[in-house]
This record gives sequence, structure tokens and C-alpha cells, in this order.
Amino acid sequence: MPGIVVVGAQWGDEGKGKIVDVFAEHADLVVRYQGGSNAGHTLVVNGRKTVLHLLPSGILRPDTLCAIAPGVVVDIFGLVEEIKNLKALGLLQNPKQLMVAETCSVILPFHKTLDQCREKALDENKIGTTGKGIGPAYEDRAARRAVLFGDLFDEKTLREKVELAIAEKNVLFKDFYGTAMVSADQVVESVRPLLDVLAQHRSRDFSLVLHKALKAGKRVLFEGAQGTLLDVWHGTYPYVTSSSTLAANACVSSGISPMAINKVIGVFKAYATRVGTGPFPTELNNETGDRLRREGAEFGSTTGRPRRCGWLDLVALKAAVKLNGITNLSMMKLDVLSGLEKIGICTAYKIRGELVQDLSMFYGELDHAEPVIEYLPGWNENLSRVTNLKELPRMATSYLDFVGTQLGTPIDVISIGPGREQTLWVKPLFTE
Ligand code: GDP
Ligand code: IMO
Ligand code: MG
Repeated sequence: MPGIVVVGAQWGDEGKGKIVDVFAEHADLVVRYQGGSNAGHTLVVNGRKTVLHLLPSGILRPDTLCAIAPGVVVDIFGLVEEIKNLKALGLLQNPKQLMVAETCSVILPFHKTLDQCREKALDENKIGTTGKGIGPAYEDRAARRAVLFGDLFDEKTLREKVELAIAEKNVLFKDFYGTAMVSADQVVESVRPLLDVLAQHRSRDFSLVLHKALKAGKRVLFEGAQGTLLDVWHGTYPYVTSSSTLAANACVSSGISPMAINKVIGVFKAYATRVGTGPFPTELNNETGDRLRREGAEFGSTTGRPRRCGWLDLVALKAAVKLNGITNLSMMKLDVLSGLEKIGICTAYKIRGELVQDLSMFYGELDHAEPVIEYLPGWNENLSRVTNLKELPRMATSYLDFVGTQLGTPIDVISIGPGREQTLWVKPLFTE
């Protein structure tokens, strides 16, 4: 079965958007499977930059069908804005290009308010969420009081669902956080102007469409959001997002069999970044970290926050390979390392005096991890115009070889700039 998952192998922002847009040339369908508009996926085509938060990164290719799976939490206000922005650019002219499962949970403004109130109240222990309401929306889903996408189109049902969703929250807003309460009327009113646009994308038979496509041999790409170490079960809990970011969740969230997946492509940067709070053993709080931030333009695509930067962490990456069953790797942003005299790579941690090279459990352990860094020589050449692997400087090739060997997984794609065309293929991943 021709299902392929593209998953972030670090702490998010690995360049999933760029590479999914590149891969989408060879795909019939691109499916976003978890998270919501906490994601910011950047695509650069012919020099024009597009940042997508909810729309799958195949959307700039008119012949590629795009789908939002039931496991995504959908900010309907943000979604309508993204759709309108694309239409204004002459894209997404055919509404059939985008389908949204009617069983997706909807994010409403009170989810964002609650997310932000909670963060504020956490003082020194903030998670550093994006404030997009992700946690509260997934809580409502698990608590069986979520408003679903399909509920939006029947006003009576919508009002009842909203009343259920806000009852407890209003007590919190009024008595605990001292902020304004919300009314179901307010919410219903605010949703009404969106309905015409949303109705055009409603899918009542989501997983059936996927099943049929897969059965017919169509190539389906599943686009992950966030990254492996932000997974709610296996990441650096509690400094994680509220969904499972792992490749396996592509199946659960979309309602397809694990047998439908035949490749898992792990996307990682040639160094490491993290936004928000939480352990980050290879973080560089020095001039080199500042340089990576500057050269890599490491500022959040969703919140604009400066990203924390550090060396590549092979212990964490090896875990990502195992947790996701990664079969092929894409290394992104190799160009950013140009000009460094030496490049650090973390090959092990020292945890309480012991050398650890394999870790599968990040809860608490990383708080005590001291990175063991090996250094490889750098290179000065600018890589952004390289069009052929043979043009890469010898030291860049050595760096790639070292990382690929350590991970025991082939690096099949190398990205050397944000543009679609700045992509080098070591091995073709898609044979037509
Ligand atoms: P995502 O969340 O995984 O899709 O990643 P983001 O879009 O949040 O962040 C990746 C950033 O790096 C974006 O600004 C991309 O345009 C940019 N980018 C992607 N690949 C490359 C690359 O190979 N080199 C450089 N210099 N920038 C890249
Ligand atoms: P993409 O898809 C990087 C981080 C937040 C915070 C934690 C929880 O662009 O890679 P949340 O709002 O999800 O409750 O925040 O997760 N986070 C991301 N970091 N890239 C993302 O998405 C992220 N989405 C959430 O910074 O630490
Ligand atoms: Mg991002």
C-alpha cells in the first residue's frame, strides 16, 4: 500500500512543510494528521513564502488533493483565513482540493483563552505553548464534550454542544482566572459567517476516501506536525504538545491500517532547535547558538519567538528513528552550517556519571543529561546554489556520512535552502 508518513524527528520546525511540498509533486493526496494551528509550515516557491498552519503542505499544487484528518484540532477562524489568503493568490480555486473530516474537533476562541490563562498562571513552570488552544481542545475530545466539525452546520446541535463545552470553563474563567465568561450565543453568532466556506470542504466519508485512494494505488503522504520529542506519550513530558506526533498516529488519526504505510520519512535539521520550555541537552547559549539562530532565521513560524539552538543530538535522533520506524531520512538546513570552523555532534549523554548512547524514554532523564560532543571539521563554501551532490564540499559530505552511519538509516534527501528547488536527492524516494 502506497502510504508514506513524513514525521518531524526533533522538536518541530525541522522543515516538514518544505519537504512535503517537494514530495507532493509525486503524491496524489496529502493528509495533515494531528495537531492544529500550533504548527507553522513554511513553503518557498519561486521566491514567494507561504506559511501554513492547518492546510496540508500539498496545497500549492492544484492537482494534489489535500485532507485534514479527524485527529487534527481545527481552528475554524484560522482555517477560513488561510483558505481566503490562498484564494486571493489564485490558488485553491477548486474547493474539492481540500477536504476536512467532519469528525475533527473544532477549536473555538474559549480554547485559546483557557490555554493562555493556564500558561499565565503557571508562572515559572510554563510549558511555553503557542497559545492556540491545542491542549484544551484535545482535553475536550477526551472528555467527550468536543464540538465536531460536522456539528457546525446544525445551529441547534451547535448551541447544545457549545453549552456543554463552556459550562465548566465559565466557572474557571469567572472564579479561578478572573476573566470574562463566554456565552453560547456569542459563539454561535461568530461561527455563522464562516459556514459557507467551511461547508465546501466538509467530508462525511473521510476514511472511506482514503481507503479507496490507497486501494487504487494512489500515493498518499501523511504530514506530521510538531516533532517526535514533543509527543505527548514519548516526548519530554510535560514539555510536549497534547497530541501524539509519531508516525503511527497517522493511522489512528486518519482511520487507516498500519499496513497501509510502506515508508516513514524522518525530517531533521543539520543542527537542533526547540521553541518553548523543556530540556535541550545540546543547547548553545553562546555566540555559536546566536549564529545558528541568525543564519538559520530561527524564529517561530507561528509565534515569532526566537528558537533555542544547539548541536545535532544523535541520541535523541536515534530514539526518533526507533519510535517512528523511520526508513529514510531528509536532512534539512545543511547550508546553515557553512562558515563554522568545527561542527559539534552529540553522540552520547552522561547521565548520573554513566555513558548513555541509546535512550527511549525522555521523561526526567534529559534534565540530568550532559552531552558528549564530538567535533567534525567545518567548511566555508556557500551551499545554497549547489545543484549536484558532487559539488558539496568534502567536509559537508563527511558530516553527512558520519550522521548517516551513526543513525544506521539512509539520508536520501538533503536540503540546502528554503526554496523548493534547493533540494538534493541522494536516492529517488518515489518511483513512478
Ligand atoms: P516545519 O514546521 O517543520 O515545517 O518548519 P518551519 O517552516 O517552522 O521552519 C523551517 C524554516 O527553515 C522555514 O523558515 C523554512 O523556510 C526554512 N528552511 C527549510 N529548509 C531549509 C534549508 O534547507 N535551508 C534553509 N536555510 N532554510 C530552510
Ligand atoms: P511545527 O509543526 C515547534 C511546542 C510549543 C510548546 C509545546 C506545546 O511547526 O513543527 P502547544 O501550543 O502545542 O500546546 O505547545 O510545543 N510546539 C512547537 N514547537 N514546532 C511546532 O510545530 C510546535 N507546535 C507546538 O512551543 O513548547
Ligand atoms: Mg514550524
